[in-house]
Formats: sequence, structure tokens, C-alpha cells
Amino acid sequence: MRIALAYSGGLDTSVILKLMREKLNAEVITVTVDVGQPEDFSGIEFKAYKLGAIKHYNVDAKEEFANNYVYKAVKANALYDGEYPLSTALARPLIASKVVEVALKEDADAVAHGCTGKGNDQIRFDLAIKALAPHLKVIAPVRDWGLSRDWEIEYAVKHGIPVKSKIYSIDENLWGRSIEGGVLDDPSVEPPEEVFTWTVSPSNAPGDPAYIDIEFEKGVPTAVNGIKMGPVELITYLNHVAGAHGVGRVDMMENRVIGLKSREVYEVPAATTIITAHRDLERLVLTKRTLDFKWYVDGEWAKLVYQGLWFEPLREALDSFIDSVESIVSGTVRVKLYKGKISVVARSSPYSLYDSELMKMLDQSMSVGFIELYGLQAVKAYWKKLKV
Ligand code: ARG
Repeated sequence: MRIALAYSGGLDTSVILKLMREKLNAEVITVTVDVGQPEDFSGIEFKAYKLGAIKHYNVDAKEEFANNYVYKAVKANALYDGEYPLSTALARPLIASKVVEVALKEDADAVAHGCTGKGNDQIRFDLAIKALAPHLKVIAPVRDWGLSRDWEIEYAVKHGIPVKSKIYSIDENLWGRSIEGGVLDDPSVEPPEEVFTWTVSPSNAPGDPAYIDIEFEKGVPTAVNGIKMGPVELITYLNHVAGAHGVGRVDMMENRVIGLKSREVYEVPAATTIITAHRDLERLVLTKRTLDFKWYVDGEWAKLVYQGLWFEPLREALDSFIDSVESIVSGTVRVKLYKGKISVVARSSPYSLYDSELMKMLDQSMSVGFIELYGLQAVKAYWKKLKV
């Protein structure tokens, strides 16, 4: 049996690499997908071969992630339950597609991943693989063979698999950092400062605010402070600057797809900054009706992606609508970053619907008749109810 394994180099995927060699006598091809996580990729490759991989692939998918996933999310103001920018959720279908590509090229029989049976990531991986290559078997040993963390650590030690003392389960990419586990499992306790690495504590942030101009073209950011930047560079830069001002910490109660509630902590400085600015620009250039409708569309988009339904046709249909709306979402937004808080302080656009002349010139007498008809039914109904 030949298996293509989505390999992060962490405990779960290292243990299952060795286990699949042992238990299934499988030829394992490891695939590490670079979506901007700060890892030593040559170290991961070395580890993969040491644990018995017959071949290793390192796939740089940063640009593709930023362009085809993250920037779609920006246009959709994607925040699950109003707070989580979907950093982990967005990367899963892309990682799965890269592993499937290798599986097909290497004529593998199955694709394996290291997800447990408790979270959302198993859904995202399984469904993406099923959508892209229905003939491939999906193996998730941690879930399917019921491996516990303690058992994995014991197995790792016995087989010389290096285990970093890991209290937290962390997933990182260009768009954010997800932190779970340890004391965070108790939602009544404030996250200790040690869980944060991308953001400073707001109380330790600089005493002077930073002002940043973000330029958008057709719904996506293209320049910061007048300097044109590609998506990877722009997001990396904003992660730095906003993180240094303590912006982008999220601590929320989340509703997982499988029904469990969980406490989730995120560091998402660039995502928070870009989405805050983008939303503000939309309010400048889109009509009220479009905004109201898009608000609903954005919520549905975020739900689909969170729930592992990237390949659901509705997502693409929503993207078509969003792209059409975003064709005029161009302009510049100035944000102020100060002690963990982000505020929009200025915005401008050639498509701006705000018109100060109109505000001055409006014939005020026109409002009288308008109000009469506009409130006719509401006022009538109110009095009818009192009378009856
Ligand atoms: N709850 C988030 C999600 O479902 C983050 C998952 C983080 N995964 C992890 N292995 N730490 O998208």
C-alpha cells in the first residue's frame, strides 16, 4: 500500500508515519505544505526520511494560499461567529489539494492526515480529499485507531521520535495562529501571556499609536503606506506591525461542526487589520441595500468555509456575487493601532457615495412628504392597536 501523508513534522503526524510503516507495511510519501508557518522545512524533511518516508515533498503554497484563499476571505470579510478569521479553516482544503496532487502523481492508494476525531480539521481534510479524488482512501490514524496523546508520547519516546514538550496544540499559517489545549481548556481562566507569540500584550504596547494607510483595489489590499506589496509580503508586514501594537488577539467560545463547544484563542493581527479596513471601505462605496445583503452572504461564506465545505458549489456562487460587488471596492483606509485597539480614522475612494455637497444642498422641505408616506403604515398600525 502506498500512502501520501500530510506531514507537519509534529508529534501526531510523526507517530502515524512510523505506525503506518509498521502496522500497514505501507510505503509512505510525506508532503509538507508551506502556507506561511514559521517552520524549518529542511528539518521536517530530514525527520520524515528518518522515520521511514520513501519520498518527501515540500510544496511552497504561500502565494496560492494568499491569492486564492485568504484574499477571497478578505472580500467576504470572513469572520466565523463574528470573530475568527478562519486562518486554520482556509488552509485545510489547500493542504489537502496539494497532498492529493502528490498522491495522484505517485500512484498512491490512500491519503493520510493527523487529525483527531474531535475537531473540525478532520471534516475539512476528509471532504476535500473526497471531492478531489473520490477513489483515494482516507486514513486518519489518530482518529481511526483511537490514539491518545499519552500513548503517542510514550510511543514517540520508545522509537526515538523527538517530542518537544508541548502543552498547547498550535496551528500556524500566514493568516493566523490558533492555540488550543493546556489551561486554555478551562474557559473560566484568562489565557496566560505565554500562549501569545505574534502579539505583545496591549499593556506593553508602545505608548505612541501607529497610523497605517491601506490601499484596496477591487476588494483586496494592494499597498501599505504607499508601497505596493504582493499578498504574502503585505500580510507578513501587517502581522508584524499590528502584532507589535497588541492588535489581533481573539479569545472566544466557538461552536464546532460536530456540536462541541470549545474555547479557542487566536492571534490574527493582519487579518483583523485588513478586514476592519475593508469593511469600512465597503461602507463608503456600497449602497445600503448591497451592504445589508452582503452582510448575510459574508456570514454564509464564513460558515461554509468553517464547516469544511470549501468545495460546495454554493461557495463558488457566493464568490461570484462577492466579486461582482467588489469591483468598486477600491480606495484607501487609514487605521490607527494603539494598545491592542484598532480604529479606522480616515477613508477615501473614487467610488465614494458620500457627498458633502448633497448634504448641504438638499432641499429640506422634500423630507416632510417623504416622512408622511414612509411612516404611514407604522403610525396607523400603532394607533389602530391603541384604539381596538
Ligand atoms: N478551532 C479552529 C478551527 O476549527 C482552529 C483549529 C486549530 N487546530 C489546531 N490543530 N490547533 O478552525
